[in-house]
Amino acid sequence: MVSRVIPVEEFDLVIFGGTGDLARRKILPGLFRRFLSGQMPEGSRIIGAARGEMDSEGYREMIREAIAEFGGDEAKDKDGLAKFIDQLHYVTVDAKGDGGWKELHDLIRFDVINAFYFSVAPSLFGDLAQRLHSNKIADRKSRVVVEKPFGRDLETAKALNATLAKHFKEDQIYRIDHYLGKETVQNLMAVRFGNMLFEPLWNNHYVDHIQITVAETVGVGGRGAYYDNAGAMRDMVQNHLMQLLCLIAMEPPAVFDADAVRDEKLKVIRALQPIDPHHIVRGQYEAAKKSPSYREDAENPKSFTESFIALRCEIANWRWAGVPFYLRTGKKLRARTSEIAVVFKDIGHSIFPGDEKRHRNILAIQLQPNEGMQLQVTIKEPGPGGMRLIDVPLDMTFADALGPDAEDSTDAYERLIMDVIRGNQTLFMRGDEVEAAWAWTDPLIEGWQERNDVPKLYEQGSAGPEDAMMMLHREDRKWREIKE
Ligand code: BG6
Repeated sequence: MVSRVIPVEEFDLVIFGGTGDLARRKILPGLFRRFLSGQMPEGSRIIGAARGEMDSEGYREMIREAIAEFGGDEAKDKDGLAKFIDQLHYVTVDAKGDGGWKELHDLIRFDVINAFYFSVAPSLFGDLAQRLHSNKIADRKSRVVVEKPFGRDLETAKALNATLAKHFKEDQIYRIDHYLGKETVQNLMAVRFGNMLFEPLWNNHYVDHIQITVAETVGVGGRGAYYDNAGAMRDMVQNHLMQLLCLIAMEPPAVFDADAVRDEKLKVIRALQPIDPHHIVRGQYEAAKKSPSYREDAENPKSFTESFIALRCEIANWRWAGVPFYLRTGKKLRARTSEIAVVFKDIGHSIFPGDEKRHRNILAIQLQPNEGMQLQVTIKEPGPGGMRLIDVPLDMTFADALGPDAEDSTDAYERLIMDVIRGNQTLFMRGDEVEAAWAWTDPLIEGWQERNDVPKLYEQGSAGPEDAMMMLHREDRKWREIKE
């Protein structure tokens, strides 16, 4: 098996916020890897644009250092790096004034694909979009890439959509949710729609419940100001977990294309039911021996923002009616792991005398860090002593099954940027999807704010607050263990 790298067409990519953290940590190192793999044609140009005074030489130096720091082993390829760096340019641009726009116009080639990455605060989206047009830099063929957070509620998301829509059509707008760029997240669709085995069972007749866990070991230190204003619900659930939920729950699209897939995802979000308050558990990590508490990390001693959330939600449609979806995510938990578990119902009747244990098939899909799948099946315990049953996993880590191909290090950002150049929006969120997600999230947030709910404290390195365990326990279920 050999991975196939299909080069994209020649392009000019302008990164507004080209000197910022995301550009230095993710976007440029990612593009460098695509360049090394042969996917980014040599004539293509990357133009950093930001407020700071600098020339292209200075920018090249800055990015050389960034790639050395964040580029991993590939950064050691000095020849490759020199060639890549040659393709970088820089323009000092004032988003709110006239400075730099003419230079940018003169630099861009209009006979290749043009993409504009808005790696800046959303408050600047409108100014950038407007100036790109008034300076005749962007046209109907241009593409614009925007980052999360896309709004902080329905109203702000609508306003952002409206701002962008003044200047760009929906098929030009690429809203990034980097979870959609992850290899295994796409694998969810392959597993569901590329196999006969699972789809017939994928409904409320056979599935007892579904668990989605995205656990992190990091805290919020360093980004406390942003995070304290967001919390786990806005930071993770409204986007990443919601996307996972959609991919797991959606109906099969007729074809794998951008609108067919996004239409189906949208239907899932719109079918999500409001949640009872006792089906929401919010938590905050406490201080540990050498590690500050959430409130210290966030520098807000009175914060009620959640660094953990667990929810029980339901999708009101024929396929899923009555099946709980349990979602949880949090910082400073026991392990870094993202997993989706489809827990099937108990068998209706056991023919084995004396076997009172509950046996359940569970399909667990590990998204990160050890990508793979396990199917828990029940078999006879080996040896004499009658028919005793045990549950064992059919275990497949993709690294074992696929060998070197599984080591494809393509990171979500690089994959997504290449999709922008290809003009493929399948792995990007459509405006109506984002709005629907906020429309579901907003009342939940307003609810706990009105009730003055205080997040439950949890120990660092744990699985979150006890109440989250209880939420499932009450229904005779239990969370999967959080482990790598
Ligand atoms: C980001 C969130 O979108 O995703 C972060 O803002 C979070 O808080 C991160 O840590 C998780 O991404 P990943 O790829 O490390 O799972």
